[in-house]
Amino acid sequence: MSSTEQNPLILQSLDELSSALSEVERTTFDSIIRAMKIPRSVYENRCSWSQESYTRNCIIENEKFELILLCWEKGQFTPIHDHGGEECWVKVIEGEFKETIYQKDDSGELKMIKSAISKSNEITYMIDFMGYHRLENLSNGRSMTLHLYAKPIHSCNILNEDSGKFVKKDMTYDTESEKKTI
Ligand code: SIN
Repeated sequence: MSSTEQNPLILQSLDELSSALSEVERTTFDSIIRAMKIPRSVYENRCSWSQESYTRNCIIENEKFELILLCWEKGQFTPIHDHGGEECWVKVIEGEFKETIYQKDDSGELKMIKSAISKSNEITYMIDFMGYHRLENLSNGRSMTLHLYAKPIHSCNILNEDSGKFVKKDMTYDTESEKKTI
């Protein structure tokens, strides 16, 4: 067992977090993201902002996982989407978020199942069998969330609200600190 698996509380930087995730099995990802204690200031130089949409800022991507910082202006939200068959953890770094979960009923119609609000340091988890979700920045200003995907999500299905149909979307980054393809 590695030192990270024994004591994930030691993680205080994004480099330490990336190394820890690289070292361990995917089954340990949940406890690592729940236990990490990275100060908010560490994220400052990874941010980018846009009035058009929330931004996706890659911290690290490799074959095993993808760690990205999402930066949200007030009121910005995602389309309703799935996660390309991968696991998704969202940790709120700053602000207040609403997550709304949807599932298709037996006739294929999309139904809202539940919604919940998450605040700083709270974590949500999503995987396709749980349905689709939308995230929305409820804060009265900018906010940030850290997203861990295992494996990386290169494309997902997003709802076109006009047609009511899901369409495939290739995922892109607004900024890339480090992208590793092993
Ligand atoms: C995204 O990665 O752009 C959407 C946020 C999420 O589902 O975690």
